[in-house]
Amino acid sequence: MAPHAIVILTGAGISAESGLATFRDPDGIWARHRIEDVATPEAWRRDPAKVTGFYNARRRQLLDPAVAPNPAHHALVRLEQAWPGDFLLVTQNVDNLHDRAGSHRLIHMHGELARVRCTSCGAEAPWLADVEPASACPACGATGSLRPAVVWFGEMPLEMERIARALTECDVFIAIGTSGAVYPAAGFVGEARAAGAHTMEVNLEPSDVRSRFHEARHGPAATLVPALVEELLAAR
Ligand code: OAD
Repeated sequence: MAPHAIVILTGAGISAESGLATFRDPDGIWARHRIEDVATPEAWRRDPAKVTGFYNARRRQLLDPAVAPNPAHHALVRLEQAWPGDFLLVTQNVDNLHDRAGSHRLIHMHGELARVRCTSCGAEAPWLADVEPASACPACGATGSLRPAVVWFGEMPLEMERIARALTECDVFIAIGTSGAVYPAAGFVGEARAAGAHTMEVNLEPSDVRSRFHEARHGPAATLVPALVEELLAAR
């Protein structure tokens, strides 16, 4: 019988061929910025202008016409639409390329660049412009209170209960374009495997957690993911 529940985890590697830098490759974001300067609650408290500037620059990239979903993002939409069983796409990416491709059963576990959260009233809102010191919260009107609606180091990733349930119930778990350096996402393969799922890694190179997967395919996501999706659909 064909497997019926599938969970896909994606990381920065799936968006690399769309022109967005990964984090830990030699030319990656963490080669140019220190995590503790731009991606922690302490950094925000210490220097909100610096943190806001870092996320403004990354948010601006989403408006670049050259930055668009690539064949890997599109293939996952095809899989979601054609897969006969349960399907969940969990992304660590804060970009909006899965959304723009048309993925719906999607969890942004590290939040979204294209949204802001008001530290005064707690409301969230879509936001594609730069956040300026005078930017006002659309809900309460406070200024100087908008932070990116992303999860920083030291904060809890989103929708973890829903993700844990899907991992326990899945028959197939596939991680795409992620180095396996950041938990809890790097531990998902272990959870899925313990629950009996077949596990596969698709990444440019062996990830830090390669040995935990039953199977691996190494190469560019925009080539490997469309081929894998056709295989999965042919075998269903
Ligand atoms: P990383 O930068 O750690 O890893 C990206 C992986 O993608 C690497 O293993 C690359 O080899 C691989 N890769 C690069 N280009 C690829 C391509 N064309 N096709 C397939 N794979 C490719 O990014 P993540 O694993 O997503 O968190 O990082 C996880 C988290 O760490 C991020 O969500 C972010 C970061 O710090 C926060 O900011 C909270």
